[in-house]
Amino acid sequence: MHSSTPIYIALLGLGHVGQGVLRILQDRFEPLSERMGRPVILRYVLVRDLSKYAKIHFNDATLVSDFSIILHDPDISIVVELIGGEFPAYDYITTSLMNKKHVITANKEVMAKHQSEFFSLAKTHKVDICFEAAVAGGIPIIRALKVGFAANKINSLHGILNGTTNYILSKIQADQLPFSEVLKEAQRLGLAEADPSMDVSGLDAAYKLVLLAGVAFKRLISLEDVYYEGIEDISLEDIRFAQELGYDIKLLAIGKHFEDKGYSFKVHPTLIPHSHSLCGIKDESNAVFVYGDAVGESLLAGKGAGGAPTASAVVSDLIDLIFEIDQPRSLRNLDTELIPCECLAMDQSFSQFYLRLLVKDEAGSLESVSRALRDSNLSISSVLQKEASDTTASLIIVTHTCFESEFNTAKAAIEGLDCVLNLASVIRVRLDEDD
Ligand code: HSE
Repeated sequence: MHSSTPIYIALLGLGHVGQGVLRILQDRFEPLSERMGRPVILRYVLVRDLSKYAKIHFNDATLVSDFSIILHDPDISIVVELIGGEFPAYDYITTSLMNKKHVITANKEVMAKHQSEFFSLAKTHKVDICFEAAVAGGIPIIRALKVGFAANKINSLHGILNGTTNYILSKIQADQLPFSEVLKEAQRLGLAEADPSMDVSGLDAAYKLVLLAGVAFKRLISLEDVYYEGIEDISLEDIRFAQELGYDIKLLAIGKHFEDKGYSFKVHPTLIPHSHSLCGIKDESNAVFVYGDAVGESLLAGKGAGGAPTASAVVSDLIDLIFEIDQPRSLRNLDTELIPCECLAMDQSFSQFYLRLLVKDEAGSLESVSRALRDSNLSISSVLQKEASDTTASLIIVTHTCFESEFNTAKAAIEGLDCVLNLASVIRVRLDEDD
């Protein structure tokens, strides 16, 4: 359908992503209007401080700081929320939906906390809410799961969903520098926030996993259902030993359906074998490794953050929404009810474990540790021993697969041994799609 009737939109926020969207809409106005079937006119840009943007050219859009102007303009049919954070984004999204305006958002936090309410409001008011840009920036993972993999039952997904932490871990490995130095460098380059806690603690990836649980598994979960652990304690030493054993360490977000036991969602540093394709995802790149029953294994990779890649996802939602507005069939983003589900507690989760211990360098240390593991029914897959000082040694052990609860018993026994001076690291290992 081609029409000369424009569609009017409003942009909330003019950070890197907002400016990226503005640039795409300006530079690609003709081809985009052609593709969408009618001109898309940006009527408003909402910013907090009007004076800061006096010199920017907005293609006739009006700069406003009062959201109610947008809300009460009946011509605005799409609100693009790019301000981030929970509030006031929550208010802007709910009132837009209640006023029959479609919403596009890049905001993983507000989506992860309120998706159920947003979906229900959208349904009631017969509008849609799209969030492609909220997960893995420029990688079209939401659309791939909703449309591209629609024929599949998704068994598992493993995602590198946070660019900052992937950059830090890659650089520690490549430059052989400690976490604190690499973090400072990442902040200097603008690849890590001044307050990096949301990224390095695993919380950012956990929010994204909450959203992927809905799209991949049609399950409604909350942040409390996701076990998450960050990369703050990953040391250069662990990265070196992991390398020697044939692994890289990545922060993985893992969602999995077990036929007999339900669902499990977790984010933690993970040893990944060098043979696995996720090991090739370096620096600030993101990737999602999906296992579907028909398609088998599939890897989607690309830029997970940044103004232009995230803006690319926002504009793709815009194109999709305009198709939907012009050819209403279903509210395509809302055509499934998300089902509340029981998620596995972390102690029922299972994996292999990497341990680094500082032990007394004396006869019987290795034997005592391996006996403690055997007594808890844990079997060893690999061992490395390195002299640490004249009297101490680093003992690096990778176990075979066991339950988290079994590992915790073994861990307590090991920590109680006289010969163990310090259990310095525990990192989970990922080997195959069954873990
Ligand atoms: N801070 C995020 C990251 C980007 O480093 O991946 C936005 O979600």
